[in-house]
Amino acid sequence: KHWEGYGKGLVRLTPGRWLLPAPFLNFADKYYSFKFKPSDVVVMTYSKSGTTWMQEIVWTMRNNPELNHPMTNTHIFARSPFLEFDMITASSNTPPPLDHPLVQAFFKMCPGKNPLDGAQLQMTEVLPEPRTIKSHLPFSLLTPGLLDTAKVVYVARNPKDVCVSYYHQQRLVKVAEFVGDFPEYVDFWTQDLLLQAPYWPHLAEGWARRHHPNVLFLFYEDMKEDILRELGRLNTFLGTALTESQLQTVARHTSFSGMKSRGATNPTAALQESGEFKKGEAAFIRKGTTGDWTNFFTPELEEKFGEWMEKWRPTSEEIPFRYQ
Ligand code: A3P
Repeated sequence: KHWEGYGKGLVRLTPGRWLLPAPFLNFADKYYSFKFKPSDVVVMTYSKSGTTWMQEIVWTMRNNPELNHPMTNTHIFARSPFLEFDMITASSNTPPPLDHPLVQAFFKMCPGKNPLDGAQLQMTEVLPEPRTIKSHLPFSLLTPGLLDTAKVVYVARNPKDVCVSYYHQQRLVKVAEFVGDFPEYVDFWTQDLLLQAPYWPHLAEGWARRHHPNVLFLFYEDMKEDILRELGRLNTFLGTALTESQLQTVARHTSFSGMKSRGATNPTAALQESGEFKKGEAAFIRKGTTGDWTNFFTPELEEKFGEWMEKWRPTSEEIPFRYQ
């Protein structure tokens, strides 16, 4: 009763493991056998950990360091496809209408394909190289040989800020439409009863691969602290060889205010118009800070969260998050 979206319900894959929209089952084999290419970069995250930020960074570094690419103003969803988006649209009570600007952007990039009909996967398949692909799926649900072929940038964010950010997103997007308050949301979170839960095993799968030469494991908090330092690490990892001045351009272009002010990275207004985002809720590019959880967690909620962290030891102890 707390979610008015997810019309087709959720499915728990194995006890204690990934909770996903039921239509995942129709796509699981395709995700597990997706053919990655050597020039692919997968931006892999648990939701609300800075995915869109990293997609825009990676796409800009590889394609647009001078900001003169003809697709600069094309929506990030179309430049950098969301691998498992089809299972989300398929689960919705109200899939986006065909005349929606994003749907139209898909059509333009992928003539003849219907983005509401399993076509995000097809679009991803035919997208010209180099592809920057977003995925919230954990390593274990993706092609087993992924790292033998492609690169993965894994972005992690501390779970308290993820929880607050996710709460706002789930209230905002019609496909989820959470109608409870924050304490209720924390109840679901601490029982691992949220889409894509449980959090720690997803993180653990990324963390375990952090030394792999085709993985760059970054923290959202480090990006907030010193974006040029983290862009330098990306520059080496991606082999983009950008100059210092180009890195500064990328940093400005992908800054919170830069991304919030551009329709190509902040779809809030367009999606509110089309009805996919609920009016009166926080924007998709919302606050972009570390430590916002302190504005939402009461001592009781902190205690509950602490018990949940305890339950997921040793992983919750091992990953060195900063919470401020
Ligand atoms: P908040 O809700 O805390 O503001 P994702 O893209 O994985 O859904 O993550 C969304 C979170 O990243 C949101 O966090 C959003 O505001 C934040 N974000 C988006 N662009 C950002 C940027 N350029 N700099 C910092 N944070 C950004």
